[in-house]
Amino acid sequence: MPGRTLSAANTHGFNDLDMNLHMNHDDTSRAHFLIALKKRVNLTMGGQIRKNFEADMGPALGRKAGHTLNDFSKTDRKLAKAAIERTHMYKAWAAMTYISQGLMWEIVDGVLDHDLPRLQKAFNEYKSRPGRLGSLKLNPALKLPRNISETEIHRQPGGFCYESHADDITAGARYNGGGLMYSAGRGRKAVAGQSGGDFVLGILKERYPDFKPTRILELGCGTGRNTPSYKKLLPNAEVYGIDIAAGLLRFAHAYAEAEGQAVNFVQMDATALDFPDESFDLVVSHILGHETTTRGLPKWVTEAWRVLKPGGVAFHVDVPTQPGFLKLPDLVLNDWQVRYNGEPFWMGWADADVKKIMRDAGVPDEAMFAEHMRRDEGGVWFCHGMRKPKTWSKSQRRAA
Ligand SMILES: C[S@@+](CC[C@H](N)C(=O)[O-])C[C@H]1O[C@@H](n2cnc3c(N)ncnc32)[C@H](O)[C@@H]1O
Repeated sequence: MPGRTLSAANTHGFNDLDMNLHMNHDDTSRAHFLIALKKRVNLTMGGQIRKNFEADMGPALGRKAGHTLNDFSKTDRKLAKAAIERTHMYKAWAAMTYISQGLMWEIVDGVLDHDLPRLQKAFNEYKSRPGRLGSLKLNPALKLPRNISETEIHRQPGGFCYESHADDITAGARYNGGGLMYSAGRGRKAVAGQSGGDFVLGILKERYPDFKPTRILELGCGTGRNTPSYKKLLPNAEVYGIDIAAGLLRFAHAYAEAEGQAVNFVQMDATALDFPDESFDLVVSHILGHETTTRGLPKWVTEAWRVLKPGGVAFHVDVPTQPGFLKLPDLVLNDWQVRYNGEPFWMGWADADVKKIMRDAGVPDEAMFAEHMRRDEGGVWFCHGMRKPKTWSKSQRRAA
């Protein structure tokens, strides 16, 4: 509707100022097709690869190697990989996975073709509103980690750091569009893959009933899919979200404002936080770990520990790709993600020893956890973190 000023709701019942992507009938049909295709590829074809491996290939490889193959052994993973990759089903699965991911981004860009101008206008309005609830602080001088700035993660066109003008929110809109495709297939409005504040705060309430955070920091908050949920559930808390990608943070700011939640977003590198020691009660992250690097992971885990106040908790939620939780054929299929789906650290994350990383950061064993946790309808997540002892002193920190 050209020339119309932004208002609460337009004649289609949509709210011009909300930051959800508005899919029309054709977008939704395309999304349904995509989901059906992805299900066929992941469940039917992937399922066949798993079944064949368990019934024939795995036992045959084991007989040849002289032992039953072990999900934790990298040598056995190599054997499984070489054998699986030779099969026609694997080749067809890989080609179809690649094609369906490309199709997904085409469909997302189809939504942006008609909805990006509205979203951009909404961002511009939130940004210049006198009574903004939260804040947005970008740092154009920040040195961006190349694993993010120079990789099209998940093959998102242009990557997370894409910007074509000073206020550009395209990267954020695209990122959320990718998630939206999956939820459209499940008939849900919320963005798929969300592992929100309700999940984390619910677990913390059970484990540490005395814990009442008033300063919360989310690392790698992206488009803020989860950040405002902390403020909503703990209205008295001061909530911060940091990320390195400006286009995602702009989107996050507008989304939080649209949700009526006061959140402070800052462009910052999680591996070198610009916050003083012991300044937060709760440090969280949602699917950050697998997007970092072998060098970066220990750095941000250590930074999370540093900025925790005594008695504070760090809680990181990520993908459950660990050997043992996943069996050999899935580890082989996941390895494909590294090479062809813009996920350079996917297997590095799966194989990372996060307990050792926390130990090296000075976290006492009794203060840390690393385990798979189930979210009611949201599947299983790998969660790790730590609670800094209430009596933790600076001298202990130095000794560590
Ligand atoms: C998979 S996204 C998750 C975003 C968001 N937490 C969510 O659940 O949608 C990973 C995020 O981590 C950010 N990231 C990766 N490395 C980072 C770093 N060193 N410092 C800050 N953010 C980082 C990326 O820019 C990206 O937004």
